[in-house]
Amino acid sequence: MPITCYDDGRLIKLDTASSSCVLRVFKEGYLLCLYYGAKIPDANLDGLAYRDWASSFSPRNEIIGEREFSPDVAPLEFSGFGTGDFRKTAVAVRNADGNDCTDFRYVSHAVEKGKKAPKNMPAVYENAEGECETLSVLMRDEVTGAELTLYYTVFETLGVMTRFASLENKSDRAMEIEKLCSASVQLNDMDYDFLHLYGRWGAERNLTRTPLGHGHQSLSSARGSSSHYHNPFAALVRHGADEDQGEVYGFNLVYSGSFDITVDVDYYETTRVNMGINPDGFLWRLEPGERFDTPEAVLVFSEEGLGGMSRTFHRLYLNNLVRGPYKIAKRPLLINSWEAAYFDFDADKLVSFAQRAKELGIDMLVMDDGWFGRRNNDRTSLGDWYVNEEKLAGGLGSLIERVNALGLKFGIWYEPEMISPDSDLFRAHPDWCLHVPGRRNSIARHQYVIDMSRKDVRDNIFEQMSAVLSKYKIDYVKWDFNRNLTEAGSALLEAERGEEIFHRFVLGTYELMGRLVDAFPDLLIENCSGGGGRFDPGMLYYSPQIWASDNTDPIERLAIQFGTSLCYPASTMGAHVSMSRRTGFETKGSVAMWGTFGYELDPNRLTDKDKEIVKKQVEDYHKYYELIHYGDLYRVLSPWDDAYRCAWEFVSPDKTEMLYTEVVMRYYHCPKHIVRMKGLDPDKVYQLEGTDQKYSGALLMKAGLNLSADFPRGTGESFTLHFISVR
Ligand code: GLA
Repeated sequence: MPITCYDDGRLIKLDTASSSCVLRVFKEGYLLCLYYGAKIPDANLDGLAYRDWASSFSPRNEIIGEREFSPDVAPLEFSGFGTGDFRKTAVAVRNADGNDCTDFRYVSHAVEKGKKAPKNMPAVYENAEGECETLSVLMRDEVTGAELTLYYTVFETLGVMTRFASLENKSDRAMEIEKLCSASVQLNDMDYDFLHLYGRWGAERNLTRTPLGHGHQSLSSARGSSSHYHNPFAALVRHGADEDQGEVYGFNLVYSGSFDITVDVDYYETTRVNMGINPDGFLWRLEPGERFDTPEAVLVFSEEGLGGMSRTFHRLYLNNLVRGPYKIAKRPLLINSWEAAYFDFDADKLVSFAQRAKELGIDMLVMDDGWFGRRNNDRTSLGDWYVNEEKLAGGLGSLIERVNALGLKFGIWYEPEMISPDSDLFRAHPDWCLHVPGRRNSIARHQYVIDMSRKDVRDNIFEQMSAVLSKYKIDYVKWDFNRNLTEAGSALLEAERGEEIFHRFVLGTYELMGRLVDAFPDLLIENCSGGGGRFDPGMLYYSPQIWASDNTDPIERLAIQFGTSLCYPASTMGAHVSMSRRTGFETKGSVAMWGTFGYELDPNRLTDKDKEIVKKQVEDYHKYYELIHYGDLYRVLSPWDDAYRCAWEFVSPDKTEMLYTEVVMRYYHCPKHIVRMKGLDPDKVYQLEGTDQKYSGALLMKAGLNLSADFPRGTGESFTLHFISVR
């Protein structure tokens, strides 16, 4: 049983295959987290104690009669603001009197089979009955009349816990939520490094790791989207833990809007991690009887280092987050028109791409930005989602027929959350963009953000999209989002709900995406935000793949893909071969193969030699598809740790097959280069494909393989080795 109760229900233990979490209902209904970490099989938990010393500056609760108990030092599971805990708290509610002291105490709990999910938001789901169990803990703040339910779903075998919180106004007066975390996690010491992914356009998801210090550290987005700059993922890594061993706590938010993950180390050197919607710019009004659900947080604990943590996230997202036919069905190998033509295309040019692509074995042509309204540059027409017949002479139907006749599927680009000031839609509805009366709207990429909180606006966009998608045979949509939110106000939102707009925008986007997925269930949606500016689990719930970055340089992509892989599986990472500078086509292919492989170039410009390489890549794509999409990733040489080379492996779940890829980032004059492989079965014997060389898994993992000789070593060169078990 993953969730067990002891001591008349005062002690609750949540177990996965690899972790345990122990909650204690303490005197006066204080809910404590006594432990979260590596699995402890014990039923006798008397040894777990709460911190029990506080100075006079830490207020005590006299009623409890425990001289040393103070909310300021106790490991409170979900502490409220202003009532004795001076650390970063998980919840703050302002009541009708204007006071935001908050204090939730335990009322009851229940355990049930299955999964609970926040309302109207993406979430991890259960595939089969019995896969997970959910604990819900009801808490009440007697003074405000607010009720809080904390949900914990345990996926025992997967080694995952998901959490969210739900707050209901049970009083007869309105109240305002100033802050409500998805999860708050208490750890008993501070001997961790804080690891997270930062970046910028063209250089998303770099890894940074720093020892925790006293005080707090945080990462966040206030942009209305999860952003290029910080991913809603963080890990606490035990000092000394690395890729393959040691304790790691991984946290990821299933949310695509402004978020915050704060790590707070208190004066007794215990650690609290709070994660959820960014409280800056957030205030949510709850009328009597109304309820607010937070986004979901995913918690993974691993004793097998960062690699173990990543593989757990990958399995969960592949099996329990991504949906639709393309969860299983093979993704079409696509060629995208953006880097090939930008806005400069017509039907004949696109058909010529399709003709060459067909000769190379490619499955789908994607017509990127520029097909609608009067869109011949990025200054116009977002919101006018009707076909530019002048550009696509003969119409979209004829173009798609010509592409289909060649045997290729057809995909199209949209940016539904945006509106160009120069558009028919904006001229007809100037109040449909986010705006604040009296303020000039900031412009970015010549566009405004559409007011996704409004149902009438969403209806219009859906109808426009639906008119095109139901009339024509369209197999794929690239859903883009090319700026962040400013002057975030809505013409329809009452004044007292003004600060709800950021979250309402995200809810609106989810609603529209959900409607599209329901209406066109066979559509493959690829998410994008100026590259990987919204690469998060919320988006993966609607689109099984996300364009990882506008940067297609294979060497620079190494860091982007390594960083992305900390949390997200290969099958979610859009990766294309382009005409980018540096490196030959082989290396471009080797790097892009670690993702949803495709091309981003004008195939008419390929030399005969390039074409032969492309054909081989297409062959490899099919050959290794299962291994890469469903295999386990092992990061071998990281671009942050090794100045010269970068290497990774995919190992089949039954360990009978392994693909090793190595890229030389900088020429190295290295006499010896022995690589210890990972993730194999020590007792199996593996043959290196194309040779008669055989090695035991033990030899490959313990002694390693000497890759000094016979392998490329020049800057930008790469090679792959395919091992198959022969016994
Ligand atoms: C964004 C995307 C690109 C491309 C352009 C089109 O920048 O990341 O791939 O689709 O928009 O405008």
